[in-house]
Amino acid sequence: MRLDKFICDCTGKTRTEVKKNIKQHRVSVNGEVMLKSDIKIDEYADKVYLDKAELIYRKYIYLMLNKPGGVVSATYDNKYKTVVDLLSEEYRHFEPFPVGRLDIDTEGLLILTNDGDLAHKLISPKYKVYKKYYAKLEKAFSDSYKKAFEEGVVIDGYKTLPAIFESISENEVYLSIYEGKFHQVKRMFEAVGNKVVFLKRISFGNVELDDTLLAGEMRELTASELKALGGKV
Ligand code: URA
Repeated sequence: MRLDKFICDCTGKTRTEVKKNIKQHRVSVNGEVMLKSDIKIDEYADKVYLDKAELIYRKYIYLMLNKPGGVVSATYDNKYKTVVDLLSEEYRHFEPFPVGRLDIDTEGLLILTNDGDLAHKLISPKYKVYKKYYAKLEKAFSDSYKKAFEEGVVIDGYKTLPAIFESISENEVYLSIYEGKFHQVKRMFEAVGNKVVFLKRISFGNVELDDTLLAGEMRELTASELKALGGKV
């Protein structure tokens, strides 16, 4: 890989900035100051420093976002702010995308990554990765919901896969599902005669939403969270 591309990828700086840093004698490779931007380096074996900081190459980024309401789970939208608009430059240059979608008014745990293989495994019902939602309902829940959701309810002619229902209070519940049809949780409650008035995703597989993240804040997944999701640590 070219030295300037490597530094851009590691730092999020532009090619012009990086070329300037190289000219300023600020970059070394294996202890030797480099003055050319286009030399080829081994991104995994060579030791590259910018000033006093060693630059470690990584291809993938895995982020946990506490999605706020009013933002769409997309990389581009011509009307609304997207979750990608919330990324800092440090993360944006990896070009992460949201793993599945949360509705514009749904809040909570959204994972963003540029690892397409992992994203596929996390979304595909084949791998049974449960996503757990906290839902506030318009009316009190009924004892019949547990069995109905376990067995599957019909939404637009489609029978949903087994889901886990847990009650918190008479109109606050958890629902865990491992598929992601459009408006699925909202439509499942409609199918049993209720209505979701607030929805927040609180976990994704074994990873829970970090409750220190304010709405709109994000952080990288820890190595153990990534391992729990089956990602490359
Ligand atoms: N189910 C919904 O209805 N909406 C979401 O955003 C996620 C799951």
